[in-house]
Amino acid sequence: MNDVRKIRLVVLISGSGSNLQALIDASERGTLPADIVGVVSNRADAFGLTRAHKHAIPTLFFPKQGTRRDYDAALAEHVATFRPDFVVLAGWLRLLSMAFLERFPNRVVNLHPALPGELPGLHAIERALDEARRGERTYTGVMVHLVPDEGVDSGPVLAQERVEILADDTLETLRERMRGLEHHLLITTLRRLATGGLDPDAPPHFE
Ligand code: GRF
Repeated sequence: MNDVRKIRLVVLISGSGSNLQALIDASERGTLPADIVGVVSNRADAFGLTRAHKHAIPTLFFPKQGTRRDYDAALAEHVATFRPDFVVLAGWLRLLSMAFLERFPNRVVNLHPALPGELPGLHAIERALDEARRGERTYTGVMVHLVPDEGVDSGPVLAQERVEILADDTLETLRERMRGLEHHLLITTLRRLATGGLDPDAPPHFE
């Protein structure tokens, strides 16, 4: 991968950071032409910070402070110092306002454990399973999308994949399967962004 320019990623997290770990592993293995140049958390106890430290990735704990607008503008300022090509929201549990988003147009990528237009917000996997148990759905999915505005888990879709909900699924088994798929979809999508196979300024259109 010597002739491919590596993309610079800043990853925003609030918790476990299993997706962050998948990105770290893929970039270290060379299957993702990326450098993770910074990890930012709004929570001091996010395990993702420990994961980043283990790999000598610069981290920033950026706690809640001031108004939402002031926080987001200051956060954008800090993130910009890492000079990212893309900002990846990987379990970042805080809505970002335009004060942040306008600094990185078409360069903020979010991951959500549901299909486009379905189950926005928290606990999407639990809600999908509840609906399946009520006979209201047989599948859910995961998606990677751009974040152009303050819409919740909406925005131009870069990739999506369906996940069947099995009759004997528990929350743990479904979550586990979805997590594995999320890791895979996030990596393949970022690889396509890195190698020019996907144009963030002209994202694909899904019906
Ligand atoms: C993932 O399910 C992601 O889609 C959602 O938050 C979760 C983060 O998981 N936005 P992790 O912290 O990467 O393990």
